[in-house]
Amino acid sequence: MKFPETRMRRNRKNESIRNLVQENHISANDLILPVFVVDKNSAKEEIKSMPDVFRLGLKELKDKVREAEDLGINAIAIFPKVDENLKDDKGSYALSKENYLFRYINKIKLISQKVQVIVDVALDPYTSHGHDGILNKKGDVDNDATCEVLAEQAVLLAKAGADIVAPSDMMDGRVGIIRKSLDKNNFTEVSILSYAVKYASNLYAPFREAVGSAKNLGKADKKTYQMNPANIREAIMEAELDINEGADFLMVKPGMFYLDVIKELKSKFNKPVFAYQVSGEYAMLKKYSEEDINLFKNILYESMQCFKRAGADAILTYAACEMARILKDNDKNL
Ligand code: PBG
Repeated sequence: MKFPETRMRRNRKNESIRNLVQENHISANDLILPVFVVDKNSAKEEIKSMPDVFRLGLKELKDKVREAEDLGINAIAIFPKVDENLKDDKGSYALSKENYLFRYINKIKLISQKVQVIVDVALDPYTSHGHDGILNKKGDVDNDATCEVLAEQAVLLAKAGADIVAPSDMMDGRVGIIRKSLDKNNFTEVSILSYAVKYASNLYAPFREAVGSAKNLGKADKKTYQMNPANIREAIMEAELDINEGADFLMVKPGMFYLDVIKELKSKFNKPVFAYQVSGEYAMLKKYSEEDINLFKNILYESMQCFKRAGADAILTYAACEMARILKDNDKNL
């Protein structure tokens, strides 16, 4: 027998064989598109730190929903930018009847039955201090007072037509109180996507530019509620609590830096695990490939395959439409 006995390369010898032995697959079905919006009938505002991502006015948002649907994408997550003069220390505009986000949700529900609308439950786009909740006298986020407001916010979002509410605030007990409030108001059908494991990451900076909360937060951080990047045991406890409180899906965020966490949750719990390729991760991929669009497509595809390999069921990515288009083109080539 000739050396070596085992030739792994036989299973890589051409594209057809490689396709046959591929272990994990990404499809448009797995993609969720986050979208930034502004209160304007028509707008497409550049976000400096996120090339090719824009803040959309209502008209462009509707077009985006149609585009996503055509590409086979099942859900979008919308994030509002709110005018500075509407922000206060309690984030009152989040609960105001005037909040344009409610109108937007309502409008896009008329456009597509298929595309599910996910909306964050948190106060950071609305607060003058940029935190996700209400502050106590010491200047820290008051857990229980915040939960009460979040429960109200979730019900208003459900009333506006949100299919899935996504608490992204990391308060203790918020999933439970949100579930109870939704049920009490007859929104038993509305799902909860819990940002169960959300780290206090440096990768959210472009997002904070996009929703306009960066200046409000200033030099402050969110370490008293978001998790320490060094921890995984704590991630398991967070996920367990959220499941017990009624979460329908768990999310790990950021995603790319935290693939081990995705894998851990997927193996420990019988719940779908979503991953968020966050703004800083998107910006890194863009920067790396800024001179070569094909390199961007390839690195994006690779990152999606890695999410699937780690066990993610669905993935939020700002490049969801590009990714879906790549998959469509690949299909055409086969
Ligand atoms: C708000 C929220 C953040 C993100 C999603 N929801 C930012 C934060 O917690 O400061 C970040 C998403 C991204 O960076 O793409 N609670």
